[in-house]
Amino acid sequence: MKLFFKITLTLLILIVFGAAVALAEHEGLAKYKYFGCASCHSVKSAGIEITDPSAKNDSLDLSTVGKDHNKEWLSNYLKKKEEVNGKTHPKVFMGTKEEREVISDWLSTLK
Ligand code: HEC
Repeated sequence: MKLFFKITLTLLILIVFGAAVALAEHEGLAKYKYFGCASCHSVKSAGIEITDPSAKNDSLDLSTVGKDHNKEWLSNYLKKKEEVNGKTHPKVFMGTKEEREVISDWLSTLK
């Protein structure tokens, strides 16, 4: 019986912990907002609208960017070490390596 309670308790802890992780905002999403990426890119799939009212169009939506690029590519692109149509990303990334990686990690999940 003791073992039964131990197993039940362990399972309960795992369920509560899992729910907390699932509910918490991905750190990459928080950083995405913090670094103002949304002034040029909406992420409609995550409910993020473009924030710059003067943006003429919304062709840079990143809703499915993870389909085309993996985390490593995204991180390198933000560092201007990869190109799209022969051009590096127009915006210089001002954060740390860790911040760049956490954003890239999140973006790579958008499929
Ligand atoms: C000043 C506007 C601007 C800001 C701010 C900006 N970007 Fe961009 N981004 C662009 C433009 C323009 C392109 C398209 C470049 C091209 O096609 O050559 C682009 C392209 C991209 C792409 C490639 C998309 C694809 O499908 O190839 C990714 C990924 C990206 N940006 C992520 C980010 C992230 C993350 C941030 C915030 C750290 C950010 N951008 C901030 C203007 C911006």
